[in-house]
Amino acid sequence: MTTTLAGGVVLIADDEEPILDLLRDILEPEGASVRTARSGREALAALEAEEPDVAIFDVRMPPPDGLTLLKTLRERGIDLPVLIITAQDSSTMTIEAMQRGAYDYLGKPFDPDEILHTVQRALEHRRLTRRVLDLERQFSQDPRDILIGRSGPMQHVYKLIGRVAGSDATVLITGESGTGKELVAHVLHRNSARREGPFIAVNCAALPETLLESELFGHEKGAFTGAMAQRKGRFEQAAKGSIFLDEIGEVSPTTQKKLLRVLQERTFERVGGNALLKANVRVIAATNRDLIEGARAGNFREDLYYRLNVVNIHMPALRERNDDIPLLIDHFLRKHRFGGGEAAPISDAAMELLQNHAWPGNVRQLENTIERAVVLAQGGLIGPEHLLLDRTLTVHEQMLDSALARLLTVAPLPQLLEELRARLLTLALERCHGDRAAAARMLGISEALFTSVMSDE
Ligand SMILES: Nc1ncnc2c1ncn2[C@@H]1O[C@H](COP(=O)(O)OP(=O)(O)OP(=O)(O)O)[C@@H](O)[C@H]1O
Ligand SMILES: [Mg+2]
Repeated sequence: MTTTLAGGVVLIADDEEPILDLLRDILEPEGASVRTARSGREALAALEAEEPDVAIFDVRMPPPDGLTLLKTLRERGIDLPVLIITAQDSSTMTIEAMQRGAYDYLGKPFDPDEILHTVQRALEHRRLTRRVLDLERQFSQDPRDILIGRSGPMQHVYKLIGRVAGSDATVLITGESGTGKELVAHVLHRNSARREGPFIAVNCAALPETLLESELFGHEKGAFTGAMAQRKGRFEQAAKGSIFLDEIGEVSPTTQKKLLRVLQERTFERVGGNALLKANVRVIAATNRDLIEGARAGNFREDLYYRLNVVNIHMPALRERNDDIPLLIDHFLRKHRFGGGEAAPISDAAMELLQNHAWPGNVRQLENTIERAVVLAQGGLIGPEHLLLDRTLTVHEQMLDSALARLLTVAPLPQLLEELRARLLTLALERCHGDRAAAARMLGISEALFTSVMSDE
């Protein structure tokens, strides 16, 4: 029989020396590292010193006995697979062991093949649960790393991230404000080979030109007034990790030139210094500007644009992925709980309003709206009154705007309003199949007013 015990650490606790020897003789030749304990207490000490991959406990041994030990482990949240040694005729003991969360049991007298097989299964189980835990940790534990959305445009983003995360390629993330550019930069880093290294974000729009240069590249002592000591720049701090250059479109021509050099030669100098430093970083940049347009207008170096745009990830505006809004709302309700309680519920009416909103500020604006609504509703049911949406920005009003824009120069205002009113009355009447009362209700006026306005026409 072939086994894969190699590298597995097995702890055996039993007060009978011959049993310890027997199990050791079965497991060690297959590659397992065996640790032994002669009492429950010794087993606990061994567990504290090193967590094994599998534990084997005898039910009867100096305290604590095998079942008590198992209970203690589970209470401490240690979930390694535990095998319990029972006499084969003791079915009640076996049942109790399984109820307490034993992985399996080994019946005496021992069958070496069966033991090997059971330990091997337990080890494999252990490896699998570890792997699942690792993956969970990697993908979901840090809320900063969760990208929500299943729509087509987001699927496209995920594919791109998957394709480029592993390489060191420079990535330019584009998209409107609040679409998640920084979040994507972070996710890229967390899924790259540099994930153990630092992720350094620099907002290039936040600092004036000279300060930005020393922020990025550092400076030597005395490089300028106020440079009291040598200072490492962000490129140095990001060594072995990633640097995120946010708002790259705002960078001055001089700094653009220096950035171009970093990207071309992977070297830079501190401000006021001449030592050539190596840039061991992956560069991720973001902008909500059209850099090609910037290049055409002479504000942005075209060569730098191409160096940055090796891979482009374009973030869709929220209005291009309306389907994702309920998922995002759900996510933000969980993220922003009121006083640490349950995620707040939301009314259908509020949900509908949120889904029909145009969201010029994209996901960030949606998140802010939800966060504020949770507070206004004090953790209770969120209704439309808690959303405080800027009414001029609803999809409905945008549609109205674009329709009206075409009418702007068609006729003088009084005439236009007359026509509009007449048209709306007729439309409502048509919709309601000639029922005046219903048409009036649809327009939110009384039937008497409806009739009088109609007869005016
Ligand atoms: N797909 C998403 N899933 C979950 N949260 C998101 C998503 N997109 C954005 N967010 C959240 O929305 C907020 C804004 O995102 P982020 O700061 O990444 O946007 P941005 O594109 O960098 O905006 P700006 O251009 O204004 O800097 C953050 O709190 C972020 O966590
Ligand atoms: Mg940003």
